[in-house]
Amino acid sequence: MSKNVELIKYLTTRRSVPLPFLEEPGPGKEDLDLILSIGTRVPDHAKLCPWRLIVIKGDARGQAGEKLAQIAKAHNPELSEKELEVERMQFLPAPLTIGVLSVPVEHEKVVELEQVLSAGNVALNLVHGANALGFAAHWVTRWFAYDPEASTMLGAKGGEQFVAFVHIGTPKMRLEDKPKADLNKLVSNWEA
Ligand SMILES: Cc1cc2nc3c(=O)[nH]c(=O)nc-3n(C[C@H](O)[C@H](O)[C@H](O)COP(=O)(O)O)c2cc1C
Repeated sequence: MSKNVELIKYLTTRRSVPLPFLEEPGPGKEDLDLILSIGTRVPDHAKLCPWRLIVIKGDARGQAGEKLAQIAKAHNPELSEKELEVERMQFLPAPLTIGVLSVPVEHEKVVELEQVLSAGNVALNLVHGANALGFAAHWVTRWFAYDPEASTMLGAKGGEQFVAFVHIGTPKMRLEDKPKADLNKLVSNWEA
């Protein structure tokens, strides 16, 4: 494999673009299929495919947000109209969101952690796939990934856990570069 300068540049400068700054146009069917293919081409011990994806787009974005607002209100009747509006906007204005569920199965060799990590890989690869097609993306979880009622409403079945909502769209802004991880602190050589 020869050195891919473009890919190195992308991998060393990649940034997310937060949900409020993701606009139309979003990926059409062909682009979405490619993003989903890239997203699911991940390390996956024993080829278990221990994940499931749910696409939220079009009118479903506002409908899901409205249901989140209702659940949030039921949990906390004190919420203000402004706070409820935040819930209604959880999938807007991004044109499209892909929810990633970890779906671990019983396996004699592959422990649950490995399967959850594979689902995390799907989420990051969806970000890479979106970026490769010229879109921007933001991986979020927020409260509804962990709230049983909200995650069930969004499509989680028993034993499944949302690990990501990957919002995808055209970037309205670009974040500045961020400080690099301090490899001197984070990396050491094992010595006997
Ligand atoms: C598992 C996971 C959950 C995350 N959840 C959120 C979230 O709920 N809200 C948020 O603003 N960022 C969240 N992030 C962080 C963003 O995806 C992103 O990494 C961050 O905005 C920094 O941007 P960068 O990707 O350009 O470094 C999450 C990241 C991971 C790995």
